[in-house]
Amino acid sequence: MTERLVAPQEQPADREGEGLRPQRLSDYIGQRKVKENLSVFIQAASTRGEALDHVLLYGPPGLGKTTLANIIAAEMGVSVRTTSGPAIERPGDLAAILTALEPRDVLFIDEIHRLSSATEEILYSAMEDGCLDIVIGKGPSARSIRLSLPPFTLVGATTRAGQLTSPLRDRFGVISRLEFYEVEDLKEIVLRAASILRLNITDDGAEEIARRSRGTPRVGNRLLKRVRDFALVWEGGAVTQTIAREALNRLDVDPEGLDQIDQKALKTIILTFAGGPVGLDTLAATIGEESITLEDVVEPFLLQMGFLQRTPRGRMATARAYQHLGYSLPQSRMDSVLFTE
Ligand SMILES: Nc1ncnc2c1ncn2[C@@H]1O[C@H](COP(=O)(O)OP(=O)(O)O)[C@@H](O)[C@H]1O
Ligand SMILES: [Mg+2]
Repeated sequence: MTERLVAPQEQPADREGEGLRPQRLSDYIGQRKVKENLSVFIQAASTRGEALDHVLLYGPPGLGKTTLANIIAAEMGVSVRTTSGPAIERPGDLAAILTALEPRDVLFIDEIHRLSSATEEILYSAMEDGCLDIVIGKGPSARSIRLSLPPFTLVGATTRAGQLTSPLRDRFGVISRLEFYEVEDLKEIVLRAASILRLNITDDGAEEIARRSRGTPRVGNRLLKRVRDFALVWEGGAVTQTIAREALNRLDVDPEGLDQIDQKALKTIILTFAGGPVGLDTLAATIGEESITLEDVVEPFLLQMGFLQRTPRGRMATARAYQHLGYSLPQSRMDSVLFTE
């Protein structure tokens, strides 16, 4: 699964020569609403000389959460300390990180939904009252002391906002949901990456890559790098639409950005389960993937693209999925489609 070309999670090759990550808000393409709001809050906090309010960023992998966390620090002119939910093993680890922050610094906690509950509780008073309650000693002689912390900004990122406890969620002043990118924005991202990589690319070449990138900048950048190799060998350099199309077909990324796993999921619903509904776990077991992978990585994009529908009784393939994969809609579905789609 980690080898999937269109997987939105980071892969080792994505990091090679990462000059691609935008450093400032003005380089950050798309997500207009999120950007505009953040820009106002950042300016206001800077003007007042205060730390920015705590920010929660959520959305599927690869849409720019880590990038945005770093940009927030850069725009505030402060340092960023980066860690992640699973990396903080004990509450003491978090206490050590918090007490080492400089005033107004950004603490970025990736995968914040995976903090242990003991660690999370430390965060409550740190976020709300700017202090840390630590218990020293054990048993009857234990006593609690209160340390005050420098003002700081917590930026939390998560792919699963639903898994955050409400006391934690409520302590964020800014909650921003990142959306899948439109083709236009992705195209701009691909063009920007190409120029950083000093690649010769045509407008329609960039658009072809953008259309197959699953609404995800990380995937766009990765596909660009792979197409670049084909372009070099086939044409001596330039990425044209024909090259992009040929290369991506060979790499099994279809014109809508679906790869073999997406196609397998949809085909299984259509052929094995008569279009659905089928439960997530049953579907996962049938195609040999983990339920969580299916739910976090495969489904969001298929839902967004209107290939999949989530119903109380399970997942269903939409008319659009039948059409895209070249199957004709069974008569029983045709009737309901007329009324519901
Ligand atoms: N808005 C954007 N504009 C340009 N490039 C972006 C944007 N968002 C993400 N990227 C690119 O996609 C890559 C993945 O983004 P990242 O912030 O690591 O995603 P996430 O943390 O949400 O998984 C970055 O390295 C960057 O090159
Ligand atoms: Mg990230």
